[in-house]
Amino acid sequence: MNQAADDTTAARVQTLRSQLQAASYAYYVLDAPDLPDEVYDRLYRELQDLEAAHPELVTPDSPTQRVGEKPAAQFTSVRHNIPLYSLENAFDVAEFRAWEDRWRRQAPETGEVEYVAELKIDGNALALTYENGVLVRGVTRGDGIAGEDITPNVRTIRSIPLRLNTDTPPPVVEVRGEAFLPLDVFEQINAERAEQGAAPFANPRNAAAGTLRQLDSRIVAARRLDFFAYTVYLEGDQNPKSKIQNPKLSPSTQWAALELLQTLGFRVNPNRQLCRSADDVQAYYDDWATRRLQLSYLTDGVVVKLNDFALQQRLGFTQKFPRWAVALKYPAEEAPTILENVSFQVGRTGAVTPVAELRPVQLAGTTVARATLHNADRLAELDIHQGDTVIVRKAGEIIPEVVRVLGELRPENAIKVTMPTHCPQCSSALDKPEDEAVTRCINISCPAIVQGAIIHWARRDALDIEGLGEKWVKQLVEQGLVQSVADLYGLTEADLEPLDRMGKRLAEKLLGAIAASKTRPWASVLYALGIRHVGTVNAKTLAQHFPTVEALAAASPDEIETVHTIGPEIAQAVFQWFRVPANQTLIDRLRQAGLQLAASPEAQSQPAPGPLAGKTFVLTGTLPTLTRPEATAIIEAAGGKVTSSVSKTTDYLLAGEKAGSKLTKAEGLGIAILTEADLLALAGETQAQETPIS
Ligand code: IVH
Repeated sequence: MNQAADDTTAARVQTLRSQLQAASYAYYVLDAPDLPDEVYDRLYRELQDLEAAHPELVTPDSPTQRVGEKPAAQFTSVRHNIPLYSLENAFDVAEFRAWEDRWRRQAPETGEVEYVAELKIDGNALALTYENGVLVRGVTRGDGIAGEDITPNVRTIRSIPLRLNTDTPPPVVEVRGEAFLPLDVFEQINAERAEQGAAPFANPRNAAAGTLRQLDSRIVAARRLDFFAYTVYLEGDQNPKSKIQNPKLSPSTQWAALELLQTLGFRVNPNRQLCRSADDVQAYYDDWATRRLQLSYLTDGVVVKLNDFALQQRLGFTQKFPRWAVALKYPAEEAPTILENVSFQVGRTGAVTPVAELRPVQLAGTTVARATLHNADRLAELDIHQGDTVIVRKAGEIIPEVVRVLGELRPENAIKVTMPTHCPQCSSALDKPEDEAVTRCINISCPAIVQGAIIHWARRDALDIEGLGEKWVKQLVEQGLVQSVADLYGLTEADLEPLDRMGKRLAEKLLGAIAASKTRPWASVLYALGIRHVGTVNAKTLAQHFPTVEALAAASPDEIETVHTIGPEIAQAVFQWFRVPANQTLIDRLRQAGLQLAASPEAQSQPAPGPLAGKTFVLTGTLPTLTRPEATAIIEAAGGKVTSSVSKTTDYLLAGEKAGSKLTKAEGLGIAILTEADLLALAGETQAQETPIS
């Protein structure tokens, strides 16, 4: 029975919330954890249990409410009470001094002033509204006049307090600041996207923007966004007639405002400085030009603000900018270095990628020693030679690439770099079909291909072998323990234990994970085999129509092609794969090892009813935030089906950036084209929407 909460329970809930809030503040804002994780978890669970037993006690500012909620249908546009201005840029110190001269001409009697210098965080501005101390709204900058209400997402950001840390909150407080993704999180997200075959986010700012506009706040919660606050408005600040309710809170300088924000529970960037002259600002700017590169987040300049609010108010705003602040930017991250060598990497599919080995150079906070040269066509286009001086850029500040070759600095008799004719790993002849950009090794026993195949086999969306990462696979292949994925199932503790840094416990764990992979469904095994063109979607479709490996292996290309959404190219690839004797042996060995090579009865059951029940989707292009597996999971969870090619039975085409021929075909057939936002809206609704969105 769900008993009404008595006073003691209510009091306990309150105590738990304050303790958890204080611990979160220490951890996320002060960077000084004061509770062991286990204690935090225990208190958190106690609160969760109490709230589950007494739902009437749940409040929106409870620490349990940060986990995200059901996808929103769409975001609503909200007009900002006070516009979010942008900042005038100064690209060097001379321009900054010119800016100072300008504001001084406007206020000629002003003597010495103080500036606050803050790092300019390369993220996305947010405006947060607190009513009676409780977070009620989080809105993106948008065009500065109106933004989107993304409150559920904002609530998942741990360094944003759900309740202000004061007993006497003014009725309305608006806090502004920058939401950003720490670099490690950004890299992790991109690594996951690469694994899933999705295009990487170009830079942390785009990744943060995409995450903030994600309709499913549970995805946002998983992405660890962070936030630095830099502006606070207390009710009445902009309106001289209204009284500020709590004058002792009201700051009169930017420096005091930052301190107030920190007291209220926000994370404020610690690298701020009170400067007493333009010279001080210059020293700060020079100092942080290199120090900023050690930070765990990206910055692209320094924001300089006049400290005194009274002076700020006198100077006011131009059409676009405040006159009392300026962004003093750092130059873009490009650097010249020397090409020492070009190596050629062989991937799982045998694709050979040229990689520039560079004399190490500092770029955007990291040492860059390698950069991709993509493929043979790009090599030819760059006309790159050994020893060339090249310009490297961190495209999106993360993925380094060679953007230019300074031909005039080329050493005499330098040798031109070309694609090899033979595989650098196994020496067999490479193949480059006329109409493709990719050069490939086609020897299936090539150690690079074997390693790649095993890594693919172990992926989360394939056979999900936890712990079987690159470093183990490399050793297993190098030591000759594994020459094919089937060999994984014959490994013993005695084989694994001697590997460098393995030991008994890890060996046991890894063998357990390998054994567990035998329970993965037939569709996953089919995908894990790595047959060309057979991604997760095609594997599922094929596994449904051919419920056993024997049926699929016996099917002719024509028979395979009769499957809805499977085209001739895929059918040929599958058919050919099963004709290779080594692959037949592989299947036999997998069967003996006990892998699932037939569908279980449940796998063939009807789709669950949902808002997208009976609807067929095709995905194309790069979506703003979702990877393909994520989008597929959302569609399937709502009862829809994803297929790989457009036909007249397709209901919707989900199109992202760089959509190609599928988009043209769908338009020709009059199929509804959806954006990611449309999809999330449809999937989030309880009723299937019959009318196309676009
Ligand atoms: S102050 C009117 N302070 O830079 C005051 N902005 O180019 C405007 N930004 O839209 C904002 N760090 O998104 C301020 N410490 C900082 C900042 C900062 C990053 C961003 C902000 C703003 C943009 C202007």
